[in-house]
Amino acid sequence: MTRKKVLITGGAGFIGGNFVQYMINKSPSYDIFNLDLLTYAGDLTKHRDIESKKNYHFVKADIADRDIIISLFENEKFDYVVHFAAESHVDRSITDPGVFVKTNVLGTQVLLDAAKLVGVTKFVHVSTDEVYGELDFDPTTFFTEDTPLQPNSPYSASKASSDLLVRAYHETYGLPVNITRCSNNYGPYHFPEKLIPLTISRVLNNQKVPIYGDGKNIRDWLHVLDHCAAIDLVMHEGVNGEVYNIGGHNERTNLEVVKTIINTLGKSEDLIKFVKDRLGHDKRYAIDSTKLEKLGWKPTFTFETGIAQTIQWYLDNKEWWEQIISGKYQGYFEKQYNV
Ligand code: NAD
Ligand code: TYD
Repeated sequence: MTRKKVLITGGAGFIGGNFVQYMINKSPSYDIFNLDLLTYAGDLTKHRDIESKKNYHFVKADIADRDIIISLFENEKFDYVVHFAAESHVDRSITDPGVFVKTNVLGTQVLLDAAKLVGVTKFVHVSTDEVYGELDFDPTTFFTEDTPLQPNSPYSASKASSDLLVRAYHETYGLPVNITRCSNNYGPYHFPEKLIPLTISRVLNNQKVPIYGDGKNIRDWLHVLDHCAAIDLVMHEGVNGEVYNIGGHNERTNLEVVKTIINTLGKSEDLIKFVKDRLGHDKRYAIDSTKLEKLGWKPTFTFETGIAQTIQWYLDNKEWWEQIISGKYQGYFEKQYNV
Protein backbone atom coordinates (compact mmCIF):
# COMPACT_ATOMS: atom_id res chain seq x y z
CA MET A 1 0.00 0.00 0.00
CA THR A 2 1.37 3.48 -0.86
CA ARG A 3 2.01 5.58 2.19
CA LYS A 4 -0.07 8.73 2.54
CA LYS A 5 1.14 11.98 4.04
CA VAL A 6 -1.23 13.68 6.48
CA LEU A 7 -0.62 17.24 7.66
CA ILE A 8 -2.28 17.94 11.01
CA THR A 9 -2.10 21.62 11.96
CA GLY A 10 -2.38 22.51 15.65
CA GLY A 11 -1.31 19.01 16.67
CA ALA A 12 0.34 20.30 19.85
CA GLY A 13 -2.99 21.59 21.14
CA PHE A 14 -5.93 19.87 22.79
CA ILE A 15 -8.02 18.35 19.98
CA GLY A 16 -5.26 18.29 17.35
CA GLY A 17 -2.99 16.56 19.89
CA ASN A 18 -5.57 13.88 20.57
CA PHE A 19 -6.09 13.50 16.80
CA VAL A 20 -2.33 13.07 16.17
CA GLN A 21 -2.21 10.22 18.70
CA TYR A 22 -5.46 8.71 17.38
CA MET A 23 -4.09 8.63 13.80
CA ILE A 24 -0.62 7.36 14.76
CA ASN A 25 -2.23 4.45 16.63
CA LYS A 26 -4.97 3.75 14.11
CA SER A 27 -3.21 4.21 10.77
CA PRO A 28 0.47 3.17 10.87
CA SER A 29 0.57 3.38 7.08
CA TYR A 30 0.13 7.17 7.27
CA ASP A 31 3.02 9.57 7.74
CA ILE A 32 1.78 12.12 10.24
CA PHE A 33 3.16 15.66 10.12
CA ASN A 34 2.24 17.79 13.13
CA LEU A 35 2.63 21.48 12.27
CA ASP A 36 2.29 23.87 15.19
CA LEU A 37 3.60 27.27 16.24
CA LEU A 38 3.69 26.23 19.92
CA THR A 39 1.81 29.25 21.19
CA TYR A 40 0.79 29.37 24.88
CA ALA A 41 -1.71 26.57 24.04
CA GLY A 42 0.76 24.25 22.32
CA ASP A 43 2.71 21.66 24.26
CA LEU A 44 4.76 18.75 22.95
CA THR A 45 5.21 16.85 26.21
CA LYS A 46 1.91 15.12 25.46
CA HIS A 47 3.60 13.35 22.52
CA ARG A 48 6.52 11.83 24.46
CA ASP A 49 5.27 8.30 23.73
CA ILE A 50 5.05 8.78 19.97
CA GLU A 51 7.81 11.25 19.15
CA SER A 52 10.37 8.55 18.33
CA LYS A 53 8.03 6.74 15.92
CA LYS A 54 9.21 6.74 12.31
CA ASN A 55 5.87 7.93 10.97
CA TYR A 56 5.65 10.98 13.29
CA HIS A 57 7.19 14.30 12.26
CA PHE A 58 7.00 17.69 13.95
CA VAL A 59 7.31 21.04 12.16
CA LYS A 60 7.36 24.28 14.13
CA ALA A 61 5.81 26.96 11.94
CA ASP A 62 3.18 29.68 11.77
CA ILE A 63 0.30 28.78 9.41
CA ALA A 64 0.14 32.46 8.43
CA ASP A 65 3.77 32.43 7.22
CA ARG A 66 3.15 32.03 3.49
CA ASP A 67 6.73 31.36 2.33
CA ILE A 68 7.35 28.60 4.87
CA ILE A 69 3.97 26.96 4.33
CA ILE A 70 4.18 27.00 0.53
CA SER A 71 7.70 25.56 0.50
CA LEU A 72 6.72 22.85 3.02
CA PHE A 73 3.81 21.78 0.79
CA GLU A 74 6.03 21.84 -2.31
CA ASN A 75 8.56 19.58 -0.56
CA GLU A 76 6.15 17.15 1.10
CA LYS A 77 3.15 17.12 -1.25
CA PHE A 78 0.65 16.19 1.44
CA ASP A 79 -2.31 13.95 0.56
CA TYR A 80 -4.52 15.14 3.42
CA VAL A 81 -4.70 18.30 5.48
CA VAL A 82 -6.64 18.26 8.76
CA HIS A 83 -6.66 21.84 9.98
CA PHE A 84 -7.05 22.42 13.73
CA ALA A 85 -4.55 25.24 14.35
CA ALA A 86 -6.34 28.28 15.71
CA GLU A 87 -6.66 30.74 18.50
CA SER A 88 -9.49 29.02 20.33
CA HIS A 89 -10.46 30.84 23.53
CA VAL A 90 -13.47 33.19 23.43
CA ASP A 91 -12.31 35.24 26.45
CA ARG A 92 -8.96 35.97 24.80
CA SER A 93 -10.73 36.99 21.59
CA ILE A 94 -12.67 39.58 23.57
CA THR A 95 -9.49 41.19 24.90
CA ASP A 96 -7.28 40.73 21.80
CA PRO A 97 -9.18 40.00 18.56
CA GLY A 98 -6.30 40.82 16.15
CA VAL A 99 -4.38 37.57 16.52
CA PHE A 100 -7.63 35.64 15.91
CA VAL A 101 -7.98 37.27 12.51
CA LYS A 102 -4.34 36.63 11.66
CA THR A 103 -4.22 32.97 12.65
CA ASN A 104 -7.79 31.83 12.03
CA VAL A 105 -8.55 33.77 8.85
CA LEU A 106 -5.23 34.57 7.17
CA GLY A 107 -3.62 31.31 8.35
CA THR A 108 -6.47 29.26 6.88
CA GLN A 109 -6.24 31.13 3.57
CA VAL A 110 -2.48 30.46 3.33
CA LEU A 111 -3.11 26.74 3.94
CA LEU A 112 -5.87 26.70 1.31
CA ASP A 113 -3.49 28.23 -1.25
CA ALA A 114 -0.82 25.65 -0.41
CA ALA A 115 -3.34 22.78 -0.60
CA LYS A 116 -4.56 24.03 -3.98
CA LEU A 117 -1.00 24.31 -5.26
CA VAL A 118 -0.16 20.64 -4.63
CA GLY A 119 -3.65 19.24 -5.25
CA VAL A 120 -4.49 17.51 -1.96
CA THR A 121 -6.96 14.61 -1.82
CA LYS A 122 -8.86 16.29 1.01
CA PHE A 123 -8.72 19.42 3.15
CA VAL A 124 -10.70 19.02 6.38
CA HIS A 125 -11.37 22.32 8.10
CA VAL A 126 -12.14 21.84 11.79
CA SER A 127 -14.63 24.51 12.74
CA THR A 128 -17.09 25.04 15.56
CA ASP A 129 -20.82 25.23 16.26
CA GLU A 130 -20.16 28.74 17.62
CA VAL A 131 -20.29 30.08 14.03
CA TYR A 132 -24.09 29.65 14.19
CA GLY A 133 -24.39 32.12 17.07
CA GLU A 134 -26.66 31.20 19.96
CA LEU A 135 -29.95 29.36 20.52
CA ASP A 136 -32.55 30.29 23.10
CA PHE A 137 -33.47 27.89 25.90
CA ASP A 138 -36.19 26.01 23.94
CA PRO A 139 -34.85 22.42 24.19
CA THR A 140 -36.42 21.40 20.85
CA THR A 141 -34.22 23.74 18.77
CA PHE A 142 -30.83 22.67 17.39
CA PHE A 143 -28.15 23.95 15.01
CA THR A 144 -28.31 22.13 11.66
CA GLU A 145 -25.90 22.58 8.75
CA ASP A 146 -28.48 24.98 7.23
CA THR A 147 -28.62 27.30 10.24
CA PRO A 148 -27.40 30.75 9.11
CA LEU A 149 -23.97 31.85 10.32
CA GLN A 150 -24.43 34.51 13.01
CA PRO A 151 -21.22 34.53 15.06
CA ASN A 152 -21.26 36.71 18.17
CA SER A 153 -17.68 36.73 19.48
CA PRO A 154 -14.49 37.75 17.69
CA TYR A 155 -13.44 34.07 18.00
CA SER A 156 -16.56 32.71 16.30
CA ALA A 157 -16.50 35.52 13.72
CA SER A 158 -12.95 34.57 12.77
CA LYS A 159 -13.93 30.88 12.51
CA ALA A 160 -16.99 31.74 10.38
CA SER A 161 -14.76 33.83 8.11
CA SER A 162 -12.40 30.91 7.66
CA ASP A 163 -15.35 28.59 6.92
CA LEU A 164 -16.47 30.94 4.15
CA LEU A 165 -12.98 30.95 2.62
CA VAL A 166 -12.90 27.14 2.69
CA ARG A 167 -16.28 27.04 0.98
CA ALA A 168 -15.10 29.59 -1.62
CA TYR A 169 -11.98 27.54 -2.47
CA HIS A 170 -14.26 24.57 -3.14
CA GLU A 171 -16.74 26.56 -5.25
CA THR A 172 -14.12 28.57 -7.15
CA TYR A 173 -11.21 26.18 -7.56
CA GLY A 174 -12.83 22.79 -6.92
CA LEU A 175 -10.61 22.14 -3.88
CA PRO A 176 -11.88 18.93 -2.19
CA VAL A 177 -12.89 20.22 1.23
CA ASN A 178 -15.08 19.43 4.20
CA ILE A 179 -15.99 21.69 7.08
CA THR A 180 -16.82 20.12 10.46
CA ARG A 181 -18.66 22.08 13.15
CA CYS A 182 -18.39 20.44 16.53
CA SER A 183 -19.87 21.35 19.90
CA ASN A 184 -17.73 21.90 23.03
CA ASN A 185 -15.10 19.20 23.55
CA TYR A 186 -13.65 17.88 26.80
CA GLY A 187 -11.16 15.15 27.67
CA PRO A 188 -7.43 14.57 28.22
CA TYR A 189 -4.96 17.40 27.53
CA HIS A 190 -7.61 20.12 27.59
CA PHE A 191 -5.85 23.38 28.40
CA PRO A 192 -6.83 24.54 31.91
CA GLU A 193 -8.22 27.92 30.83
CA LYS A 194 -11.43 26.26 29.50
CA LEU A 195 -14.38 25.51 31.80
CA ILE A 196 -14.00 21.77 32.46
CA PRO A 197 -10.22 21.48 32.98
CA LEU A 198 -10.21 24.82 34.82
CA THR A 199 -12.83 23.48 37.21
CA ILE A 200 -11.12 20.12 37.76
CA SER A 201 -7.71 21.67 38.39
CA ARG A 202 -9.00 24.40 40.69
CA VAL A 203 -11.25 22.06 42.69
CA LEU A 204 -8.34 19.64 43.16
CA ASN A 205 -6.32 22.56 44.53
CA ASN A 206 -9.26 23.72 46.74
CA GLN A 207 -9.50 27.00 44.81
CA LYS A 208 -12.67 28.89 43.90
CA VAL A 209 -14.24 28.17 40.50
CA PRO A 210 -15.47 31.27 38.60
CA ILE A 211 -18.90 30.86 36.99
CA TYR A 212 -19.91 33.64 34.62
CA GLY A 213 -23.29 35.28 35.21
CA ASP A 214 -25.94 32.96 36.66
CA GLY A 215 -24.40 29.71 35.35
CA LYS A 216 -27.50 28.89 33.28
CA ASN A 217 -25.81 29.10 29.88
CA ILE A 218 -25.89 25.74 28.12
CA ARG A 219 -23.15 23.96 26.19
CA ASP A 220 -23.41 20.61 24.36
CA TRP A 221 -20.41 18.52 25.47
CA LEU A 222 -18.61 15.89 23.36
CA HIS A 223 -15.66 13.75 24.41
CA VAL A 224 -12.60 14.59 22.30
CA LEU A 225 -12.13 10.98 21.15
CA ASP A 226 -15.63 10.96 19.68
CA HIS A 227 -14.67 14.16 17.85
CA CYS A 228 -11.49 12.46 16.53
CA ALA A 229 -13.49 9.49 15.19
CA ALA A 230 -15.91 11.87 13.48
CA ILE A 231 -13.08 13.75 11.76
CA ASP A 232 -11.48 10.48 10.65
CA LEU A 233 -14.80 9.48 9.05
CA VAL A 234 -15.28 12.84 7.33
CA MET A 235 -11.67 12.81 6.09
CA HIS A 236 -12.22 9.48 4.33
CA GLU A 237 -15.95 9.38 3.54
CA GLY A 238 -17.13 13.01 3.57
CA VAL A 239 -18.71 14.23 0.35
CA ASN A 240 -16.55 17.02 -1.08
CA GLY A 241 -17.85 20.51 -0.34
CA GLU A 242 -20.14 19.36 2.48
CA VAL A 243 -20.43 20.65 6.04
CA TYR A 244 -20.93 18.16 8.90
CA ASN A 245 -22.14 19.07 12.38
CA ILE A 246 -20.74 16.98 15.26
CA GLY A 247 -22.41 16.65 18.66
CA GLY A 248 -23.68 14.00 21.04
CA HIS A 249 -26.78 15.57 22.66
CA ASN A 250 -25.15 16.23 26.00
CA GLU A 251 -26.56 19.61 26.90
CA ARG A 252 -25.73 20.82 30.38
CA THR A 253 -25.84 24.20 32.10
CA ASN A 254 -22.44 25.43 33.24
CA LEU A 255 -23.62 25.16 36.82
CA GLU A 256 -24.55 21.47 36.30
CA VAL A 257 -21.12 20.75 34.82
CA VAL A 258 -19.27 22.43 37.69
CA LYS A 259 -21.43 20.76 40.35
CA THR A 260 -20.91 17.33 38.72
CA ILE A 261 -17.14 17.79 38.94
CA ILE A 262 -17.22 19.10 42.52
CA ASN A 263 -19.46 16.22 43.66
CA THR A 264 -17.42 13.56 41.85
CA LEU A 265 -14.31 14.84 43.62
CA GLY A 266 -16.15 14.90 46.97
CA LYS A 267 -15.58 18.62 47.52
CA SER A 268 -17.87 21.41 48.70
CA GLU A 269 -20.10 23.46 46.39
CA ASP A 270 -18.93 26.48 48.41
CA LEU A 271 -16.00 26.49 45.96
CA ILE A 272 -18.34 28.02 43.36
CA LYS A 273 -17.98 31.76 42.90
CA PHE A 274 -20.35 33.64 40.60
CA VAL A 275 -18.44 36.36 38.76
CA LYS A 276 -19.21 39.09 36.22
CA ASP A 277 -20.70 37.69 33.00
CA ARG A 278 -18.70 37.31 29.79
CA LEU A 279 -19.41 40.08 27.24
CA GLY A 280 -21.80 38.84 24.54
CA HIS A 281 -22.10 35.48 26.34
CA ASP A 282 -23.93 33.02 24.02
CA LYS A 283 -26.92 31.50 25.83
CA ARG A 284 -27.11 27.99 24.44
CA TYR A 285 -25.46 25.70 21.88
CA ALA A 286 -27.04 22.39 20.79
CA ILE A 287 -26.13 20.33 17.75
CA ASP A 288 -28.17 18.19 15.38
CA SER A 289 -25.65 15.73 13.91
CA THR A 290 -28.11 13.58 11.92
CA LYS A 291 -26.17 14.17 8.68
CA LEU A 292 -22.95 12.76 10.15
CA GLU A 293 -24.80 9.87 11.80
CA LYS A 294 -26.11 8.94 8.33
CA LEU A 295 -22.47 8.79 7.17
CA GLY A 296 -21.85 6.17 9.92
CA TRP A 297 -20.79 8.00 13.11
CA LYS A 298 -22.12 7.77 16.60
CA PRO A 299 -20.58 8.85 19.91
CA THR A 300 -19.22 6.21 22.28
CA PHE A 301 -19.21 8.32 25.48
CA THR A 302 -22.20 9.67 27.36
CA PHE A 303 -21.48 12.81 29.37
CA GLU A 304 -21.45 10.67 32.54
CA THR A 305 -18.88 8.14 31.25
CA GLY A 306 -16.82 10.83 29.55
CA ILE A 307 -16.61 13.20 32.51
CA ALA A 308 -15.70 10.32 34.86
CA GLN A 309 -12.90 9.25 32.50
CA THR A 310 -11.71 12.86 32.15
CA ILE A 311 -11.67 13.56 35.90
CA GLN A 312 -9.69 10.35 36.41
CA TRP A 313 -7.24 11.44 33.70
CA TYR A 314 -6.64 14.77 35.47
CA LEU A 315 -6.11 12.90 38.74
CA ASP A 316 -3.58 10.60 37.05
CA ASN A 317 -1.81 13.36 35.11
CA LYS A 318 -1.45 16.13 37.67
CA GLU A 319 2.12 16.74 36.54
CA TRP A 320 0.90 17.78 33.05
CA TRP A 321 -1.57 20.46 34.16
CA GLU A 322 0.41 21.57 37.25
CA GLN A 323 3.37 22.56 35.04
CA ILE A 324 0.98 24.81 33.08
CA ILE A 325 -0.85 26.49 35.94
CA SER A 326 2.19 26.86 38.15
CA GLY A 327 4.29 28.23 35.31
CA LYS A 328 3.17 30.94 32.96
CA TYR A 329 -0.39 30.82 34.33
CA GLN A 330 0.40 31.49 37.95
CA GLY A 331 -2.01 34.20 39.12
CA TYR A 332 -3.74 34.52 35.72
CA PHE A 333 -7.20 33.36 36.81
CA GLU A 334 -7.07 35.18 40.12
CA LYS A 335 -6.42 38.42 38.25
CA GLN A 336 -8.94 37.76 35.49
CA TYR A 337 -11.86 36.76 37.71
CA ASN A 338 -10.95 38.16 41.10
CA VAL A 339 -11.42 34.68 42.65
P1 NAD B 1 -6.04 24.72 21.36
O1 NAD B 1 -6.03 26.18 21.67
O2 NAD B 1 -5.92 23.74 22.47
O3 NAD B 1 -4.86 24.38 20.33
C1 NAD B 1 -4.56 25.20 19.24
C2 NAD B 1 -3.20 24.79 18.70
O4 NAD B 1 -2.93 25.60 17.53
C3 NAD B 1 -2.07 25.03 19.69
O5 NAD B 1 -1.20 23.90 19.73
C4 NAD B 1 -1.34 26.24 19.12
O6 NAD B 1 0.05 26.25 19.40
C5 NAD B 1 -1.60 26.09 17.63
N1 NAD B 1 -1.53 27.37 16.90
C6 NAD B 1 -2.10 28.55 17.26
N2 NAD B 1 -1.79 29.50 16.38
C7 NAD B 1 -1.02 28.91 15.43
C8 NAD B 1 -0.39 29.38 14.23
N3 NAD B 1 -0.49 30.67 13.85
N4 NAD B 1 0.30 28.49 13.48
C9 NAD B 1 0.42 27.20 13.88
N5 NAD B 1 -0.13 26.70 15.00
C10 NAD B 1 -0.85 27.56 15.76
O7 NAD B 1 -7.36 24.49 20.51
P2 NAD B 1 -8.37 23.25 20.49
O8 NAD B 1 -9.35 23.41 21.59
O9 NAD B 1 -7.59 22.00 20.36
O10 NAD B 1 -9.14 23.54 19.13
C11 NAD B 1 -8.63 23.03 17.89
C12 NAD B 1 -9.57 23.41 16.77
O11 NAD B 1 -10.87 22.87 17.02
C13 NAD B 1 -9.76 24.92 16.62
O12 NAD B 1 -9.77 25.22 15.24
C14 NAD B 1 -11.11 25.19 17.25
O13 NAD B 1 -11.74 26.29 16.64
C15 NAD B 1 -11.84 23.89 16.94
N6 NAD B 1 -12.89 23.52 17.93
C16 NAD B 1 -12.62 23.49 19.26
C17 NAD B 1 -13.62 23.07 20.15
C18 NAD B 1 -13.34 22.98 21.62
O14 NAD B 1 -14.28 22.71 22.40
N7 NAD B 1 -12.11 23.14 22.09
C19 NAD B 1 -14.88 22.72 19.66
C20 NAD B 1 -15.13 22.77 18.29
C21 NAD B 1 -14.11 23.16 17.42
P1 TYD C 1 -15.32 27.75 27.48
O1 TYD C 1 -14.76 26.49 28.05
O2 TYD C 1 -14.47 28.97 27.46
O3 TYD C 1 -15.87 27.40 26.03
P2 TYD C 1 -16.79 28.29 25.01
O4 TYD C 1 -16.81 29.68 25.49
O5 TYD C 1 -16.06 28.15 23.71
O6 TYD C 1 -18.13 27.63 25.01
O7 TYD C 1 -16.65 28.11 28.29
C1 TYD C 1 -17.71 27.18 28.40
C2 TYD C 1 -18.81 27.85 29.15
O8 TYD C 1 -18.39 28.07 30.50
C3 TYD C 1 -19.19 29.22 28.62
O9 TYD C 1 -20.61 29.40 28.74
C4 TYD C 1 -18.46 30.19 29.53
C5 TYD C 1 -18.43 29.46 30.84
N1 TYD C 1 -17.26 29.70 31.72
C6 TYD C 1 -17.45 30.04 33.06
O10 TYD C 1 -18.59 30.17 33.54
N2 TYD C 1 -16.35 30.21 33.83
C7 TYD C 1 -15.08 30.09 33.35
O11 TYD C 1 -14.10 30.27 34.11
C8 TYD C 1 -14.90 29.74 31.97
C9 TYD C 1 -13.52 29.61 31.38
C10 TYD C 1 -16.02 29.54 31.18
